Amino acid sequence: MKNAIFYFSGTGNSLQVATDIAEKIGECEVLNLAKYNTNNEITAERVGLVFPVYFWGIPNIIARFLSEIKLAGNPYLFAVVTCGNTVGASLVQVNELLRAKNFKLHSGFMIKMPENYIVKYDAGSKEKQQKRFDDEALQVSAISKVVLNKIEQPLAKSKYLIDTLFGKPVNRSAAKDFPTNDINFRVNALCTGCGKCERICSVGNITMINNKPTWNHHCELCLGCLQNCPVEAINYGNKTQKRTRYTNPHVQL
Ligand SMILES: Cc1cc2nc3c(=O)[nH]c(=O)nc-3n(C[C@H](O)[C@H](O)[C@H](O)COP(=O)(O)O)c2cc1C
Ligand code: SF4
Ligand code: SF4
Repeated sequence: MKNAIFYFSGTGNSLQVATDIAEKIGECEVLNLAKYNTNNEITAERVGLVFPVYFWGIPNIIARFLSEIKLAGNPYLFAVVTCGNTVGASLVQVNELLRAKNFKLHSGFMIKMPENYIVKYDAGSKEKQQKRFDDEALQVSAISKVVLNKIEQPLAKSKYLIDTLFGKPVNRSAAKDFPTNDINFRVNALCTGCGKCERICSVGNITMINNKPTWNHHCELCLGCLQNCPVEAINYGNKTQKRTRYTNPHVQL
């Protein structure tokens, strides 16, 4: 394939953006980076990365993926960060990791999507969500033109000083605990044992034991299991019982 977009996504926002850009630029494979064998060299002409911002920076899996991948030749490299509010230091972090391999990020974008950090926030009203989806379509068109023409341009920045300055240390400090933050997941009596949470977890962090999920402490904190449970049987401590679940309506994980 001429183009490749690698995505990571807990609730579908980043998958939607990846799929929409792929459709616009054409001849593009959309690959779940959590399932990608990084021993395989990436030979595409344009290589994109689409993922959610976590605590002002990158998910752990993005750091791992970028340190492991093998890029052939001199591809055009771009990244799109989906977020609830701010890009933080995530694009700077991606660029640093690429630079460590003698590559660089040619362009980097941020797209605001419905918030999925249900531990603290709601995703907003359906109207607010729709407004973000409408804006996403416009931004995807603009981004696709930049990517198709291989334009090199400054990376998108947060409009706030605080996450620009402190994004990286805040993110790396929080991310240390992500693998074991899954000790906070609770499953209640509503669980039917359907196994969807196990199937949805792209890093294989859930095992069904006696028809109930158990978490294996290599979590990415994507919240996909909690948000996708059809009967809302999963909660994060006592923080999510009253919040409305969110999954992106345009894609199937
Ligand atoms: C653990 C976690 C941390 C998050 N931190 C931030 C953040 O610092 N800033 C922000 O704007 N959004 C934050 N979000 C929201 C997501 O980045 C956003 O909703 C994203 O579009 C979700 O993408 P996905 O559906 O592909 O997983 C966070 C979400 C999670 C699960
Ligand atoms: S998705 Fe929900 S109902 Fe299905 S096994 Fe997991 S916790 Fe139980
Ligand atoms: S266990 Fe849940 S939160 Fe953790 S990586 Fe898997 S789906 Fe995401």
